[in-house]
Amino acid sequence: MIWIKGAHLIDAAEGRSGNGSLLVKDGKIARVSPVGEDFTTAEVLTVFGCDRLDEVCQVDGAGKYLFPGLIDVHVHLREPGQEDKEDIMSGARAAVRGGFTSILAMANTKPVIDTRALVEFVRMQGERAGKARVYPVAAVTKGFGGRELTEMVDLKAGGTVAFSDDGKGIQSAETLRLALEYAKLTGCPLISHCEDEQLAGPGVMRKGEASARLGLGGIPASAESVMVARDLLLAGETGGKLHLAHVSTKESVWLIRAAKERGIDVSAEVNPHHLLFTDEDVLLIDASYKVNPPLPSRADQEALLTGLLDGTIDLLATDHAPHTWEEKTKPFAEAPFGINGLETALAAVWQELVAKGKMKAEKLIELWSLNPARRFGLVGGTLKVGAPADLVLFDPNWQEVITVDTLESKAQNTPFLEKKLQGFPVMVWVGGKLVLNNRKVIE
Ligand code: DOR
Ligand code: ZN
Repeated sequence: MIWIKGAHLIDAAEGRSGNGSLLVKDGKIARVSPVGEDFTTAEVLTVFGCDRLDEVCQVDGAGKYLFPGLIDVHVHLREPGQEDKEDIMSGARAAVRGGFTSILAMANTKPVIDTRALVEFVRMQGERAGKARVYPVAAVTKGFGGRELTEMVDLKAGGTVAFSDDGKGIQSAETLRLALEYAKLTGCPLISHCEDEQLAGPGVMRKGEASARLGLGGIPASAESVMVARDLLLAGETGGKLHLAHVSTKESVWLIRAAKERGIDVSAEVNPHHLLFTDEDVLLIDASYKVNPPLPSRADQEALLTGLLDGTIDLLATDHAPHTWEEKTKPFAEAPFGINGLETALAAVWQELVAKGKMKAEKLIELWSLNPARRFGLVGGTLKVGAPADLVLFDPNWQEVITVDTLESKAQNTPFLEKKLQGFPVMVWVGGKLVLNNRKVIE
């Protein structure tokens, strides 16, 4: 029994934003006060069916926001096979520390998640961790081979919520067409990592002036957008449910806008690092800025933000990609692609976009909680009565320096290392269970 009092509640599903209080009972949201009001003690005791307040956990929300837990549909947890980078436990801990109560675990593990037993393994490891809800994503093609489809209906029965070969683009258009057809039988979205391998070649950053200056191999924007165009056409033809991961170019944004106008069933995500950094930020000596798709040009970045604000892009996702220190301190050209995102993403987006007036807090919650829940058919995303109490109490004034010691993730490959950010979750509940308190993960 929890009584969270006097916080600024944001619920995109109800179009609600304003002060109020909320009651949690049996892991669910039991009551939400009208905006600007609180409950009387008598009301609280009636809802909880008890006669003394000392049985109720009271939380002072003054000066803080209370919103539904964020849902991250793009996370790499590395288990099984690369537990030196991350495992499901460390990833699920990092998630709640970053304000995420649900995460989707990508299939590019070793081995690839392409059997029902592996899907069930990921799901059960997530349950065992008992932090954020962990939903498995299964591969589209066996072993990420790009040719033979996985047993999608069986994988869905095992608990997968989406299909993806993320980390690798599906090069064969015919394979993707068939995959979209078969995925329809499951109702799950197919998440496409759009990357034409021939166009991308051996590039390591976005092709442009900055790559030429640094003498680094460039990946043209077309390596992504050509495949976005192809995938949209195939989704239109098949009626399949398509989700585009990590959209990073202006051409992709206008293609998605045109496809939506024609009623194609597509959703798309943008990653915080593509909104916060550009190719001009890439330093030869720091591979923490090396990511795939690469950091965009300024013009691309502006189109991504416009797309998010006008509804062309549906959601935010981190593409949390942990790698070892050893790998990421290699020369830029040799280090693996990926940015560690779970514990810094919300703070960084809040600080750079919300606090600076470029995005409303309400929009952020819609993009990172409500829309992912709706698109992927997950619980959460709302403060409606009866919804699970997946909640974040967020302090916009909390400042923290990101250090190796504070990160719950096993990896430290973040451009924010040793930097200060402002605006962090201070308490997080998953299904009414307190999993983060005063910035510390509860054991
Ligand atoms: O930068 C990336 N890292 N992009 C991807 O698509 C995969 C990811 C990873 O698994 O490390
Ligand atoms: Zn990807």
